[in-house]
Amino acid sequence: MKIIIVKNYIELSALAADFICDTLIRNSSATLGLATGSTPLGAYSHLRDRCSSGQISFKNVKVFNLDEYVELHPNSVHSYAHFMKVNLFDGTDMDLRDFHIPCGNADDLDAECKRYDRLLSANPRNLQLLGLGSNGHIAFNEPLTPFERRTHVVELAASTVADNSRLFENDSQVPRRAITMGIRDIVAAERILLLASGINKAQAVLNMIKGEVSVDCPASVLQRHPDATVIIDGDAASLL
Ligand code: GLP
Repeated sequence: MKIIIVKNYIELSALAADFICDTLIRNSSATLGLATGSTPLGAYSHLRDRCSSGQISFKNVKVFNLDEYVELHPNSVHSYAHFMKVNLFDGTDMDLRDFHIPCGNADDLDAECKRYDRLLSANPRNLQLLGLGSNGHIAFNEPLTPFERRTHVVELAASTVADNSRLFENDSQVPRRAITMGIRDIVAAERILLLASGINKAQAVLNMIKGEVSVDCPASVLQRHPDATVIIDGDAASLL
């Protein structure tokens, strides 16, 4: 695991954007695994700018997102599908037919998980971008999730509901369930880039990097990946 500690969120965002651009410049038809959450927002803003200035293009890129809340319509302003459109794709030349994300309001969620697994098997990711939950989760793979699990429906941990409630009017509006890509498919990506910013991630960063590889901290699985890079800011690195 390659660890890069930067001063602050501004530096983290610029460096993460460079990393993703490098993948797109080397392979203009790359397949990316992308993430939601506040952490990648700065990097996404750089990617939109670099796309507008012609440095990169999403025209031939395929994207597979990590997760989606259950029961939300893809057009809901709280859905992760909406998040990706507003925060990244609207400012790029991405063909939305090449954007894939589990459907949170599918009638048959088991069938939806299987559909997503088939897509993931057929479309290996060149780069997987990840954020980090304050409890060490990656995507919505909460602590104790077996590393070999594939796409599944998850009951969110109370701490995750609390963390994500800032994006809703109140706690009661936060969906309690989500569909998430499993750890097995996350680590199948050729390269992984995980971003962590802020003091509330410091314990999870410590467990991920210095703890033993264990389902207690799902992100610790990245220690075993042959090409995983972690970019963390000073606050997130404060316990290392
Ligand atoms: C959610 C997402 C994760 C994300 C995490 C951290 O739980 N499912 O993919 O990494 O939040 O979010 P943030 O970047 O807002 O701290």
